Amino acid sequence: MRLITKIGLGIVSASVLFVAGCSTASKTYSEESLGLRKVDLYSENTVTPDETKYSQAVAGTSTKFNRAFQDAPPMIPHSVDGMLPITVDNNQCVGCHTPGVAETLNALPYPKSHMTNFRPETSLAEDGKIVKNGKAVDNTSSDKMEYVTIKEMASLSGARFNCSQCHAPQSEGQLVENTFQAEYTSKDGASKSSWEGTSLTEGLDTLMK
Ligand code: HEC
Ligand code: HEC
Repeated sequence: MRLITKIGLGIVSASVLFVAGCSTASKTYSEESLGLRKVDLYSENTVTPDETKYSQAVAGTSTKFNRAFQDAPPMIPHSVDGMLPITVDNNQCVGCHTPGVAETLNALPYPKSHMTNFRPETSLAEDGKIVKNGKAVDNTSSDKMEYVTIKEMASLSGARFNCSQCHAPQSEGQLVENTFQAEYTSKDGASKSSWEGTSLTEGLDTLMK
């Protein structure tokens, strides 16, 4: 009953709008006014993007950026000249951000999550079955997450070796105004991540299995 009334009201207001629309038919919108960039949409040379300005400051002299949200990977505030690409033989990030070294350089050490193995040990049994964490598995994409592994390691996990896969230098140019306001769940969430200990498994239904 209530639904019918709503639909009825919808039709009435749509037709009012339609009538109103007809009476102001002279109002037109130019293509230039439609997009964010306020110039015609067919020629790229009318658009000058803001310059990309990566920090020139050497590590140790830069100013950190606030995290985008709680436990977001921090952006790199210092110059990465000569550090990229990261290779097996050359990972300078590890040289400064390894726990124990980092503190002496006033850098943050990579956190606990980077020394945690989230990958189940996987092998192939003789009968062709896939074995995960010692258990033969029929379906490797089980959505019950029963093979998720959360194993602390003594050192950096191989999965985190390629730092620039997740951490990128941040340009200081202003592209478009950004009014997003992060609401951090921990007091120092703008400058420190809290993803360790029990928070690693929050919301994950794995450990009971
Ligand atoms: C020479 C030592 C050194 C090297 C090499 C280095 N960093 Fe840094 N890093 C620092 C210091 C010190 C800071 C703190 C900001 C500052 O003082 O410039 C920092 C800050 C950071 C931050 C910001 C952390 C935060 O809390 O906002 C990230 C992310 C980062 N570095 C990642 C990297 C990555 C990735 C590499 C490799 C491409 C790297 N760093 C190489 C010393 C280093
Ligand atoms: C797979 C993505 C990924 C890779 C690879 C990765 N990180 Fe991170 N990093 C993150 C995320 C996400 C966070 C924030 C959540 C957390 O603490 O785990 C983070 C946080 C950090 C922090 C801030 C720690 C704090 O206490 O606030 C530092 C420093 C850091 N990473 C350095 C590194 C360095 C150095 C490497 C390479 C050796 C690296 N990361 C590789 C995703 C990654």
